Amino acid sequence: EHIVAGSGSDELIDLVLRLFVGSGDEVISCIPTFAMIRFATEMCGGALVEVLRDENFAVNVDAVKTAIGKKTKIIYLANPNNPTGTIMPRQDILEILDTGLPVLVDEAYYEFSRETVAPLVSRYKNLMVLRTFSKWAGLAGLRIGYGIFPLKIADYLLRIKHPYNVNVVALVAVQESLKDIDYLLSRVKAINAERERLFGELKKLKWLKPFPSQANFILCSVLNGKASQLQQRLQDKGILVRYFNQPLLQDSIRISVGKSRDTDILIKTLQELGEEING
Ligand SMILES: Cc1ncc(COP(=O)(O)O)c(C=O)c1O
Repeated sequence: EHIVAGSGSDELIDLVLRLFVGSGDEVISCIPTFAMIRFATEMCGGALVEVLRDENFAVNVDAVKTAIGKKTKIIYLANPNNPTGTIMPRQDILEILDTGLPVLVDEAYYEFSRETVAPLVSRYKNLMVLRTFSKWAGLAGLRIGYGIFPLKIADYLLRIKHPYNVNVVALVAVQESLKDIDYLLSRVKAINAERERLFGELKKLKWLKPFPSQANFILCSVLNGKASQLQQRLQDKGILVRYFNQPLLQDSIRISVGKSRDTDILIKTLQELGEEING
């Protein structure tokens, strides 16, 4: 009864915002973070109030509380955060929950971090937790996610949700994934181990600063200021990474964790490009 499924957790972000946010209302988000929250807020006619994270991408709880105003309808927290991979201390989430405002905790990468507030949903009327099969189960293209909501909110969401929002192929894929959960979680464990190896290798490259991550990617600052050039050169060699250039994410790239062989190829390519780009 607490669970509502959606066509990806993106659809649930959209539904939750449509439920709570109207024209002129405000949503608080701790940037840099997942971009969909801005899109969903603006689609409801709301305004996103952005609270800057600190230099290690930790949420500034005091600044979040200060940003709360009469028009605030939701506080959005991605945990682990995308694109930084940072995790929030549980105490910080509880402090934000204690404001009494609806809090949407997006745990899209939960299976990689194993940190969750989902068990608290039955205790907090203002806590909503989102999960997805896109990352750990690899079903991104089939569009299937779910949220864990207080009963009253779940009931309202079911009233505004399209009745056939989740396609039958996704449902079959979820059932099969759940039968194979041991295998899938062993893949998550392997990705986590590979992430730590990739982190160690990236750290050896003095012109990159990787940030510790609890998700299936690593964010890196490119210290020589040539992130866009690096992204392009990697792309030319068939290696796709995401490039960012926005507040707190100047000259950054996000690398998804792959197999051991992918790490080896990436690191070798970065070593070669380092010599070329840094001269
Ligand atoms: C934090 C976060 N939430 C939600 C999503 C969307 O996931 P889904 O494929 O379930 O819509 C993503 C995907 O990148 C994400 O990073």
